[in-house]
Order: sequence, then structure tokens, then C-alpha cells
Amino acid sequence: MSFDLILFGGTGDLAWRKIMPALFQAFRHGSLPSGGRIIGVARDDLSDDQYRELIKARFDHVDLAKRPSEEEFSRFAALLGYLRMDLSNPTDYAALAAKLQQRPAEVVVMYVATAPGLFTTVCEQIAAAGLNGPQTRVVLEKPLGHDLASNRAINQTVRSVLTEQQIFRIDHYLGKPSVQNLFAMRFGNSLFEPLWRRETIANIQITIAEELGVEKRGAFYDSTGALRDMVQNHALQLLCAIGMEPPINAHADAIRDEKLKVLRSLKPWTPESLSQHAIRGQYAAGTIDGEAVPAYRDEKGVNPASRTETFVALRTEIANWRWAGVPFYIRTGKRLAGRDAHIEVNFRPAPHAIYQSPLANSSVANRLVINLQPKDGLELHLLAQGADQRHRAGTPTLAPVQLDLDFDKRFGSGRVGAYERLLLDVIGGRLNLFVRSDEQEEAWRWVEPILDAWSNDSAGPRPYAAGTWGPSAASAMIARDGYCWSEEC
Ligand code: BG6
Repeated sequence: MSFDLILFGGTGDLAWRKIMPALFQAFRHGSLPSGGRIIGVARDDLSDDQYRELIKARFDHVDLAKRPSEEEFSRFAALLGYLRMDLSNPTDYAALAAKLQQRPAEVVVMYVATAPGLFTTVCEQIAAAGLNGPQTRVVLEKPLGHDLASNRAINQTVRSVLTEQQIFRIDHYLGKPSVQNLFAMRFGNSLFEPLWRRETIANIQITIAEELGVEKRGAFYDSTGALRDMVQNHALQLLCAIGMEPPINAHADAIRDEKLKVLRSLKPWTPESLSQHAIRGQYAAGTIDGEAVPAYRDEKGVNPASRTETFVALRTEIANWRWAGVPFYIRTGKRLAGRDAHIEVNFRPAPHAIYQSPLANSSVANRLVINLQPKDGLELHLLAQGADQRHRAGTPTLAPVQLDLDFDKRFGSGRVGAYERLLLDVIGGRLNLFVRSDEQEEAWRWVEPILDAWSNDSAGPRPYAAGTWGPSAASAMIARDGYCWSEEC
């Protein structure tokens, strides 16, 4: 199948950090359809060869295992081309159209990896140049908007020139093998389904912790914050995957319909829940892996008086028959104590105790931990009668044990990375792992009251030292329900 992939923002950070390495991996694995062209687009004046050199040099910054050899790069480079464009200039789109017409491809992917402010311009101009035919697919990177109104405005413009089937909104978490395994665990197996409900589950915790700070994205991040950057998209998509009903089949709309129902069922915010169940923090100076790191406000590009949150912890509920009353906790932050994304499903304790529990908090005795990264697998925690049969007051004490499944070990390193998976899906026209406009709007609708409350609250985010698990208010929030975050139990 012949394809053209036009990469708007072709010299940008995302292009060389994520997209090119993913395309190269697909090429190396032999899964990129042959007969493809990859055309970088940017404002710089570059020839095809200069663009190839630039991409080649950037590969030096990519993980060693994902770096091409000289020979591999020269074969990959044969696919690469470049076109200089001013994205607001219609004449430049005519030049793009002419280039594409030289060799009409069966699939044309327009990957818009530019500043978000250009998304609508690019889509409108693509249409004005007649480049929105049925073979065209447009990929839009997050963030898609800043709030509900701006997200709607983008979606409206994009959908006035393309059908929903042509629009691939990326949430790269959906491309992670560990997240696909979460769907497989729930909907490819019957084991957990009878337990997957309020009668058996006490609470669910979603943690996406990063050790990294804002790196070189200080200015962008300062106008964004963790709620928009991580919760509105990645964390809520994980919550949907955990909470949704089984879809009727594996088609994109069947899956998206069920995710949408979860988002619509999230308990609406009230002034009380906003003050009790929405915690924000900002990192102060601290230590990560033994190295001193600066405070967020001292990062390049960040306003020294910034009130932007780098940490969020939330408590919510999915108000439906399956989940009524079960707390779902979400937390995410930068400069935390470790890089660790996982979901913890805590089952209710045994209803009648004939054993002594070794655990201070009995809600963690039976626990399913879905490790997303850096570990990728499942842990099932149980209590067992260990070798040490101490009796306290005549009652035997149990010991915690766990079943541990490591998907990396089981499936090896040949697993397909998130961007590689998603790019191949765009080329193949599979929308399952992309976000529909109504899902996105619903997610914005739910986070907006938090944004509003925070912008009207003079208290600002709570400071936490870099290298810790965030402000203590996040622990107090969960402790009020009688639970604890995994590292505290
Ligand atoms: C991006 C956010 O969407 O996800 C970044 O903009 C964040 O701030 C990144 O660091 C995390 O992705 P991953 O795959 O490293 O967990």
C-alpha cells in the first residue's frame, strides 16, 4: 500500500523525539508498508538532503536500542523528503498538493505536530487546497484546546472539512502496550469480570508519577499545568479503560461509546468536593536520585511567581450501577519520588476475620496492581499462611504474598512502542486507539470546574519537595476515606 506521511512541525521536538524514531522502528520491524514517503514540513529553508542530515544527527539523542546503523539510516533516509512551508500561506499548500500529485498515494497522512494554535489553520488550508479527499487522514496531537470552548472550536473547524473517520486524535497512553493489555485483561478474559464491581472493589487508584521536571518545555507547561497536560487526557483515558462496560465488539465506535458513558457518569463537582477532593501542588527544590534539582519556579521559561500546578490528586466516583460509591483516585505529578505509572485495584477485606492480618490497612490485602511503566505487567496480592506461624491471642497471622506477571519478560523486547503502534494504525485506518471528539469534550467538561475553582482560589498550589510523593494534602484526602496510597500502606 502506498502512503505519504506529511509531518507538519517536521523539525520540531516531537518530530525527532517520538515520531521519527517510531517510524524508523516500524521500518526496522518491516511493518511500515512499502512504497511510502515521509515528508517533513517546516519553515526552515532545507533541501531533502539537509533534512535527512538533520534527522540523522537527532538520532544521536535517541535511546541506543532505537538508533539506526549507518546502513539502516541510509535505507530509511530514502523515504524522507522535505518541503518548506509557511503554514498560513495558501500558495505553499498548492505546492504541497503539486508534490503529492506527482505520485498519488493510496493513503495520505497529515500529521499536525505543530503548536496547537496552528491546528485549525492547517486543517482549513488542507481543505482549501483540495487535500481533504477520502484518502486523507489527519493526526492531531494533544493538547487540543485549553478548555471546553477552545476544544469545541477546534473540533468544529476540523469536522467542517473532514469526517470523524478521517480524524486521529492522539493520546499516546492508548498506544502503550501496557494499556492495551489492560483492555485485554478485562475484555479477553472472564476471570476478573464478576469481581469488577462495587460489591467487591473498595477503591481504585491511578498513579502516573514522573521523575522528570518540565525539561525544556517550561514556557509551554507554565500555561498548561498538570490537570490539562495529564489528567484531562491520559489519566481519564485510563479511568475509562478501568471503569467502562465491556464493548459489544472491538470496533472503534463500540469502544469509544463505552468510554464516553464513563466520562458522562463522573460525579459532577460541587463547591465542597472541589475543596476536599481536588488537590494541587507545585514542586519546590529537592533531590532526585541523589542530585539537587531546582524548584519549578526556577525552571527556564517559568514565571518566578507561577501558580501553575505540577501535581494533581483527585477523588471521584463513577455514578452508575457498577461503581456507585467506589472512590476512584487519580494522582499525577512531575519531580516525584519515582517514574511509576500503575493502577491499583483494592478489593474489599474478608467480611469476617478468623486470621490476624499482618497489614495495618486491610483494604490492601487483596490487590490487583496493573503496572504500566516502567514495569509492565500484573501483580496479584493475597494473604497466605507462611512459614512463620505466629499466633497472636490464639489467632494465626497470615503473610502477604504476590503473583507477579512481567509482560516484558514474557513477550520480549520486540513489542511495539506507543507511537509506532499509533502511526501504523493511522496508516492502516484503525481508529480504536484514538479519541473521538465527544469523549474529548466530555473530559474537558469534567475538568473545567476544577480549572475555574483553582483560578479563583488565591491559595495557589501547595509546595512539595522534588523527589517526594507530592503534598501531604493528597495523603490526607485518601486517608479521610480510610485508605492510603500504595507507598504509604
Ligand atoms: C505528555 C505530557 O503527554 O506525556 C508530558 O505532555 C509527559 O508532560 C508525558 O511527560 C508523559 O508520557 P510518558 O509516556 O513518558 O509517560
